[in-house]
Amino acid sequence: MSVAVSVLGLSIICNNLMTVLVFVATFLLTWWYTQPENVTKLPPGPFPWPIFGNIFSLAPTEEDNSGAQRLWEMTRYYGSDIISVKFGAKRAIVVHKYSDIKRISDEFVHVNKEGANSLFLPGIIGVDGLRWKEQRRFALSFLRDFGFGKSRAQDIAQTEIKAAIAELDKSSGHPYNPEVLLKNMVSNVIAALVFGHRFEYNDKSYVKYLNMEEEILECFRFVIYGYLVPAFIRDRLPRDMFRIKEFKQKHAEMEEAIFRNEVRDHMANYTAGACNDYIDYFIKTMKEHEGVEKEHWFNERQLVDNIVDFFRAGTDTSAATLRWVFLRMATNPEIQKRVKEEIMETIGADQPPSIQDKPKMPFTETTIIECMRFHPILPLIQTRHTPDEPVKFKDFVLPPRTLIVENIHALHHDPDEWDEPDTFNPERFIGPNGKVIKDNHMLQFGSGKRECLGQPLAKMVIFLFLIGILQKFTIKISHGNEVEAMLKNRVGNIVNVPLSYDVVFTRD
Ligand code: HEM
Repeated sequence: MSVAVSVLGLSIICNNLMTVLVFVATFLLTWWYTQPENVTKLPPGPFPWPIFGNIFSLAPTEEDNSGAQRLWEMTRYYGSDIISVKFGAKRAIVVHKYSDIKRISDEFVHVNKEGANSLFLPGIIGVDGLRWKEQRRFALSFLRDFGFGKSRAQDIAQTEIKAAIAELDKSSGHPYNPEVLLKNMVSNVIAALVFGHRFEYNDKSYVKYLNMEEEILECFRFVIYGYLVPAFIRDRLPRDMFRIKEFKQKHAEMEEAIFRNEVRDHMANYTAGACNDYIDYFIKTMKEHEGVEKEHWFNERQLVDNIVDFFRAGTDTSAATLRWVFLRMATNPEIQKRVKEEIMETIGADQPPSIQDKPKMPFTETTIIECMRFHPILPLIQTRHTPDEPVKFKDFVLPPRTLIVENIHALHHDPDEWDEPDTFNPERFIGPNGKVIKDNHMLQFGSGKRECLGQPLAKMVIFLFLIGILQKFTIKISHGNEVEAMLKNRVGNIVNVPLSYDVVFTRD
């Protein structure tokens, strides 16, 4: 009897199991097919592995740290200028041609608020909508009023040049790595604009800040990978595998030790009408907004977040550009000679460099532009996302929150845009009338509504620093170094920097 019951039970379960399996399979297939990813029309691209996507074939290498070169090669393989890849779980499309980059950056301004960018750059770069519009507009008006209109940034840069010359004199013609000095100089320009004062290079709190920031950057290289893993897996991983907790803790410590201290000091000493720097300017606006009912973000949290953005977005990028520029001077002595001649003919050896001299110094300006073309600091710009619903772009329909990657390396080396793109040649930007040709195909600062708002400041600082140093020194490669080896990129860095190098600064 009991055997008969068991057999009957088993047969019912088997029959039902089949029904359940069919039901589950139908449900899964329907679910899969109705996922936005699968009802949309993506550009071609390599097969993405579950969880990891295509990260293994795009991991940093000596020849191609950012993966930009390999992504560009894929366009030839798949016969499409726009390709689709997955960074971990994150769907991305990569655009390579000038017209596509322009169009896509005009059309999309969204960011991924749950992504690593928002953690790292929480102020303006990591936010959207009205908040972004308000804070971007405010920052631009500050930079216009304080940074340029009143030649404030120029005075600050000149002070920094004097300090740098004293520092370089200490190297007394011995091989010297300018990496830390350049970072100090750039970071001090931002400090002077934001805090209203610079720091001595050996100031304890300044050294502490730079060291903390270095540690945070190191941590962030792992955090980026953590954010490529789906959140439900990331949150369940053992220990702090991707160093996200460590990053957050270090970031909070740094914020408290440096930025919040400055804000507190400014709050305590604020006098209405006396605005000396960004923090004062922000506090003034905060007070004006007290009691205002309309939604706004003029509060202390936003102020600190914006300060983080200015230092993070401004320091490494500008210092990295200067490292390439100085390296190019050392490795291309003929070009350096011409820049120095132009400096001597225009302002001589003693007059402080001024941005007003720029129109008279086309070769110096185009040398910097060519460095930015050849060595874009961000070979892949990946700040933007498509909105929360599927969206059409050209022949494609992109899934919600697709990451948009602009391949600036490809654009800056595109043979359809440049003659001999792999030759370093500042002359390419000089027109027949001897004036600088403004070439719109240079997009190292991005483009569209989210274009870098520190661009004029960065360009000014790089121009003045180069002149200020070359007025007094000749830069040479140190004995035994090979040019080709020196021009290589450092592997694993977030921004594109050369390998650490020593050069000799000889007093003229
Ligand atoms: C050579 C130096 C620099 C380079 C190469 C650079 C590059 C960039 C790039 C590629 C973007 C993204 C643009 C886009 O999404 O289309 C950006 C955004 C931004 N940059 Fe820069 N940057 C530099 C210097 C600076 C400086 C000195 C500051 C400020 C003091 C700054 C502040 C910002 C901010 C706030 C944004 C966000 C703009 C927005 O989302 O509306 N940058 N930068």
